[in-house]
Amino acid sequence: MKLAIPKERRANERRVAVTPDTVKKLIPLGFDVVVESGAGLASAITDDAYRAAGAVVAAEETQTLGNADIVLKVQRPLSAAEGLDEYAMIKPGAMLIGMLAPYQNPDSIREYARRKIDAFAMELVPRITRAQAMDVLSSQANLAGYRAVLDAAYEFGRAFPMMMTAAGTIPPARVFVMGTGVAGLQAIATARRLGGVVSATDVRPAAKEQVQSLGATFVMVDSEETKQAETAGGYAKEMSDEYKRAQALLIAETIRKQDVVICTALIPGRKAPVLVTAEMVETMKQGSVIVDLAVEQGGNCPLSRPGEVVEHHGVKIVGHWNVPSRIAVDASALYARNLLAFLTPLVAKETSTLKIDWADQIVTGTALTRDGRIIHPQFTSADPTPLEAAAGVTPTLTS
Ligand code: NAI
Repeated sequence: MKLAIPKERRANERRVAVTPDTVKKLIPLGFDVVVESGAGLASAITDDAYRAAGAVVAAEETQTLGNADIVLKVQRPLSAAEGLDEYAMIKPGAMLIGMLAPYQNPDSIREYARRKIDAFAMELVPRITRAQAMDVLSSQANLAGYRAVLDAAYEFGRAFPMMMTAAGTIPPARVFVMGTGVAGLQAIATARRLGGVVSATDVRPAAKEQVQSLGATFVMVDSEETKQAETAGGYAKEMSDEYKRAQALLIAETIRKQDVVICTALIPGRKAPVLVTAEMVETMKQGSVIVDLAVEQGGNCPLSRPGEVVEHHGVKIVGHWNVPSRIAVDASALYARNLLAFLTPLVAKETSTLKIDWADQIVTGTALTRDGRIIHPQFTSADPTPLEAAAGVTPTLTS
């Protein structure tokens, strides 16, 4: 079985889908691992390190992907419209596994089906105990939360910890974390380690204990509605307009006393909630910093811009692209282990062949397409017209 790992070519992507450590574990499963030359360099992994682990290093992408049974990627393939047709390099019948962002790119799902690529989206791995080692949202969000605080510290013209010096005392930075899922909790822990005085907010009451156990203060609008704010899967729901108004008042009151705000609030499959308005930013002290980790989902602050550090009324609003990739060595190491954990149960050890249980919850949760059809329940209404008959036809997607 040929397993191929091409170089990631999307802008701001430094991660790679395998490391020498995971190559060593993939080979005994029966895989011939082929890595494109240079694929690991942005994550500090040389071709020689891959070779030493037992992989073959191919000079070009077409050679890497040609005839591969399984393709491991970080992000979805590029299309011809984007300047390079990576879909065409993957053979029909091959498996493609990556963070394919299907909600944001419904066209790509039709493309996998048309080209008979069996695509698996790692973001959709169900959050069940058995799948914890495969949870890419957690592994990457954790690092993003850490990095967001360092990015804030870099832009902040002051220190985080309280310092008592002969020349006088420096007060500690006040840090407010909005959204306390995986990224937010790591942001709290990191800001505390740096010596900040940390408070945090969320709409899920369950977050209160977690926040307090990290030594931060929990700030929240308490209402009947919050009792139902969490879905069965542990995610936040969109709140009512009345709740949003009460929350805005509380945030406005809290935010003007803060030096650093880390925004991480997300609602799966929707635009991120707006939590920090321009008026609130204008009440903050000169030199304060907001890092908006939700910027790629529309932002928790409407002033944030993807890929930019914007200044508004003396407040810096940081909106870096792809924050996990800003800590690429660790992000690649954890992502590669997530993929290894996902692949291992799909292989029959006795025969070293793929043996996928298509009824398994993890497979049904992640498989977008199979044998030329869209099979994921969230996307089946977008079933494609077969490739041969597709000219000019664009089926609509409802999800
Ligand atoms: P996420 O990335 O979807 O959202 C980040 C945070 O923003 C969440 O805590 C959410 O409640 C919060 N949020 C959404 N709207 C908000 C608003 N209007 N105001 C303030 N905060 C708002 O969340 P993530 O990190 O994916 O975690 C979601 C849930 O999954 C959590 O309950 C977490 O504990 C749970 N989880 C479970 C795992 C497992 O069982 N294997 C693994 C990781 C997380």
